[in-house]
Amino acid sequence: QITANQLNDAGHLMIGGCDSIELAQEYGTPLVVYDVSQIRQQIRSFRRVFDANHVDYAVSYASKAFAAIAMYQVAAAEGAHVDVVSAGELYTAIKADFPMERVSFHGNNKSREELEMAIDHHVGTIMIDNFHEIELLAAVLEERNASVDVMLRITPGISAHTNKYIQTGQVDSKFGFDLQSGQADEALQKVLANPRMKMRGLHAHIGSQIFELAGFEGVAKKLVEVAAHWRDEFGYEAQVINVGGGFGIRYVAADHPLKPEEFVDAIIKAIKKETVAKELSMPAIWIEPGRSIVGPAGYNLYTVGSRKDVPGLKPYVTVDGGMGDNIRPALYQAEYETVLASNPQAPLKEHVRLAGKYCESGDILAQDQGLPETQPGDVLAMLDTGAYGYSMASNYNRNPRPAVVFAEDGKAQLVIERESLADLVHLDRKYQQ
Ligand code: LLP
Repeated sequence: QITANQLNDAGHLMIGGCDSIELAQEYGTPLVVYDVSQIRQQIRSFRRVFDANHVDYAVSYASKAFAAIAMYQVAAAEGAHVDVVSAGELYTAIKADFPMERVSFHGNNKSREELEMAIDHHVGTIMIDNFHEIELLAAVLEERNASVDVMLRITPGISAHTNKYIQTGQVDSKFGFDLQSGQADEALQKVLANPRMKMRGLHAHIGSQIFELAGFEGVAKKLVEVAAHWRDEFGYEAQVINVGGGFGIRYVAADHPLKPEEFVDAIIKAIKKETVAKELSMPAIWIEPGRSIVGPAGYNLYTVGSRKDVPGLKPYVTVDGGMGDNIRPALYQAEYETVLASNPQAPLKEHVRLAGKYCESGDILAQDQGLPETQPGDVLAMLDTGAYGYSMASNYNRNPRPAVVFAEDGKAQLVIERESLADLVHLDRKYQQ
């Protein structure tokens, strides 16, 4: 997966024009590095598809994939919208001076305080998920004499072929209004009856790391059908159809997804076709990609430490990070490719189990990783770690979370500092016993 143009004269892996070995020396490991131009390129690729199809759109970066002030800055500069799912993500976007009218607020149990914060900061769109939220939001808007754009999240009843923990669109899902039982219609009537809620359209998200086009085409069609039903039944015409995110990316050789923008092209065409068939006017199309924007742009750098040989089995080669900085292998059996940063194309010598340093047998970053000969002190680069790696990091075993560096055009900048040991006890208070 590493090509010759990613190597410098020394043969080292380059990230954003920076030598990965030098980055590891300067900032320490474990280290998360983003190639910022790759992030920009992906957002631009999405935008180009919409421009080419002449449709009104928003590329709304699902910031749960990686949220940091620096990331919201890049998204803002590239003309993206963002979706946030908590006060914490919203706060980070505010601190990045992200334009609030381009923020959508998601979540299946937004608290009153979160809704208040969203309204006080003039968040662009509230993605309403459930009846409780309609009431909470109505109360907050009344109290503040405010109004806000809203969209209704529906459960499209489409099962995407992916890990069941990251499926979200099936009928039995905790997210959104059910269609069959009339919940979505009831929600629409409630929202239309409230002049403080400006109904903009409808939303669905079928899951994450999806490779099949059929699920996306299915959700696109379903949303237009619902829009047509709402027009016929209630005289309401949706201005926006938001199909969510979920475009799968390649992690290992066995993965063969379409390019993320090819998924989007098919979605646009499906919506156009169905809109014509239903004689609706063409809505704006919003997408919410997370993984496809930041996943391939991210690298985790680790330093090799101990080794254990087990007779007849693959050896354990242990690095200085693990499930605390990337829980995806342990949680989802997610697979990644890892290379020796000083010589990514070196011939492989052995297949190892790449182990983390956490006190848990399940802390294995890769069950079968081909590597050249490695020594303690060697730097390994795990590829495509940019989505849901740092954002799901923890302090398990009281390990500090890694630093994050943005690299672009040969320059590196620290954008999240490495946690210190003092940070780990920062919130602790002594117990008076
Ligand atoms: N929109 C909504 C409403 C979502 O819930 C999500 C992801 C996205 C967009 C972005 O999906 P993406 O384009 O990133 O696939 N922690 C899991 C992934 C959870 C995804 C949750 N929702 C993982 O590491 O695979």
